[in-house]
This record gives sequence, C-alpha cells and structure tokens, in this order.
Amino acid sequence: MAPGATKRDKVILAYSGGLDTSVMVPWIGEKYNLDVVAFSVDLGQGEDIEGIRQKALRTGAVDAVAIDARNLFVDCFVWPALMAGAVYEGKYPLATALGRPLIAKLMVDAARQHGAKAVAHGCTGKGNDQVRFDVTFQTLAPDLKVIAPVREWKMSRDDSLAYAAKHNIPVEATKKSPYSVDLNLWGRSCEAGVLEDPWDEPPPDAFAWTTDPAKAPNEPAYIVIDFEQGKPTGLDGQKMDGAPLIDRLNKLGGEHGVGRIDHVENRLVGIKSRELYEAPAGVILHDAHRELESLCLSKQAARFKTLVSQEYADIIYNGLWFSAFHQDLFAFVASSQRFVSGQVRVKLFKGQGTVVGRKSEHSLYSKKLATYESGDQFDHDAARGFIRLWGLSQQTQAQLQLLKDGKGFDLPGLLTHKEEGER
Ligand code: ARG
Repeated sequence: MAPGATKRDKVILAYSGGLDTSVMVPWIGEKYNLDVVAFSVDLGQGEDIEGIRQKALRTGAVDAVAIDARNLFVDCFVWPALMAGAVYEGKYPLATALGRPLIAKLMVDAARQHGAKAVAHGCTGKGNDQVRFDVTFQTLAPDLKVIAPVREWKMSRDDSLAYAAKHNIPVEATKKSPYSVDLNLWGRSCEAGVLEDPWDEPPPDAFAWTTDPAKAPNEPAYIVIDFEQGKPTGLDGQKMDGAPLIDRLNKLGGEHGVGRIDHVENRLVGIKSRELYEAPAGVILHDAHRELESLCLSKQAARFKTLVSQEYADIIYNGLWFSAFHQDLFAFVASSQRFVSGQVRVKLFKGQGTVVGRKSEHSLYSKKLATYESGDQFDHDAARGFIRLWGLSQQTQAQLQLLKDGKGFDLPGLLTHKEEGER
C-alpha cells in the first residue's frame, strides 16, 4: 500500500470468471471504494475453479478464494430436496435455486473470515437469483451491505467490453453464448435468446448435456439405483458417494437423451419465463424415489407428502431455504423417509427414463393380498360387508332425497343425453 493511503474495507464478490463479474472487480473498487475478494464455488459445474481463482487475481482482486462445496451441496441441499420430492411446478428440479443459498451462506462465512463489510453478486434485477442471494444475506448477516452492480450499472455488453479493455481485464476470445446459462451438478438451465418465444422449438445448440432422443442409442440401458432412507447410495450394486453418483447418472441419462425439460415458469418477481433445463440425474432420481415411496409409504402419507413436496419446492424456489418453516417441513420429510430403502430399476431409452421395477425390505406391497392367482389371502367375504357400509350414506341420501318421487338420477347431461341418431 502506498504510504499515506488508508486501508479500504473489503467486499466478498461471487465470482464466476465471466465478463460481468470480472468487470465488477474494478467497478466496485471505483464506485464503492472497496477491495474485492473474489469468491468462487465448485458445485460440480465442471469448470476449472482454480483457473477462475487465478483469473480473479489477474483482474485485480486483492484476494481470491475457491471452495469445493460439491459434497456439502449434495448432502445438505440436493438430497433433502430429493427426499422431499421438491420439483417446482411439477417440472423443474431446482438446480440453480438450490445452489444459491449455499453460495450465499459460504460468502457470509468468507465475509466473517476476511472481516469484509459487504457482499456482491452478478444477478440481474428481474430474476429469482437476486432474491435467493439477498434474502439469504439479509437473514444470516443483516449487517453486511449487499451490492448488485448489474442491477444498477446500466452497461450494455459493449460498454462492459470497453470497460474491461480500459482496465486490462482479460476477456476470452470465445463467442458469447446466445443464452443465459447456469449450471451445477443437479442440472443446467438455459434461457433467453430464441428461447424467449415459447412457440419455437429449442434449437440443438440450446442443449449441452443430453443427446437428441432421436439420435440416442437404439438399445436401452438398464440401471439399478440403491436408496437408504430416501437417499441414493449406490448404482448397479456398487456403493457410491453422492456427487460421483449424480455425475454418472447425468452422463448415462444424457447419452440416452433423458432429462430435457421445457418449462414456461412463474418467477417469483411476477413474470412468466420460458426455461430449458437439462437434468438427467435429477429426473431419473426423482422418478425412482417416487416409485420407491409408492411401495414404502402408506396411502395417507403418500397423499399428504404431495402437499409437502409442493410447499418444499416453493420454499426453495422463492429463496426461503433458511427459514423455520423449512426446518419444520424437513423434520416431516426426514421422518417420512425412515422406511424408504430399497432398489429401483430404470430403463433409459430414447429420451425416457422409465421405472420398470422397484423393491424394498420395508415394502407394504403384499403379493398374498394382491394376487389373482392361487395363494390369495384376501378376505373376499369381508369385502361384501365393507362395501355395504362404505356405500350406506350415499344409498340413504339417494333414497331419501335424490331419487324420491320417481326422479331419475341426473348428473351432467345424463337424463337429457341423446345418441347421434335420435337427435
Ligand atoms: N429459472 C431458474 C431459476 O429461477 C434458473 C435460473 C438460472 N439463472 C441464470 N442466471 N441463468 O431457478
């Protein structure tokens, strides 16, 4: 530091190595008079995180931190979401939405370690990601100032390039992607560009993880996934840790074109947006898990859990991960999974991952009760009495009210319905 210069406060910047967050390093320095500590997290997005850290230092960050959080992400975010059956609007397995609260939490930790006074991220002002970051910061560390340059700087891409040139920021010669892409091991999201017209079929270049189902192998692949208490623990009889298991399923599923999701989604900020996702492992594991639950959960528990799944997905999507309500719902989810152990067999073929078999030591399925063959132990006589009572109140009401005075039983159009010829 030059003699007489005063020491500046620090900001922890969520740094991806892209143009925007690189330009932010000098921009935040100038605009807010802060020293930037770049912070990058490996959530299994397949990038060279150490290379990104080095780039941050070349870009003028006073310090740069890179953290491998893949196991933390899987164990504390992805698996709970899977156990909960959390899929937003029945389609999106929530990869990006699960990553944000973890990154934000790790940034708060880094802010404490480095004595930083602020945190910064590169989200725009119209997406969900800014909400997830800001709400997490606000919850865990309300004293930290939050800086979101893209929300305020109003620079076009050309402005950013000019700014980068002026500050000697290395910009890769690579062509800018026509899409906005975010990835981690739980999935890839792709939006903007030609995808903004919901009528247009996504072009081949919008996909990166999955083969076009029409070009997928003509032979199916079969896999067997092991679950213990709702968590995947192995593949084809081999024990596997979470992150490598997910990587493997992404690869296998991707080869067979499994896991493409085209979704017009309702963002928290009030707009609909067309999103394209690729999540082979997410799609396969959610389907497999749900099928295992069909054996292991009682009817009531399974029905109730669909409500919990929807709430859980909304909590994640809407940035409320660090909430008491989440803790309470997770307590239910964890308890609901105590018998959800077993194996699920999945067939991967031409874009579909189809569950073709499931078994569990805790299965509630009883062949002796279900069979139509010999060995049937179901009490057929008991059925008669059960049905008498089951239908009793409906029968009573029909006689005392609906069919009284020779009235027929009308339900939508039944009494007035005419066949084609009679009209
Ligand atoms: N629409 C998804 C979500 O809200 C994905 C967002 C992807 N983010 C991005 N910066 N491209 O979770």
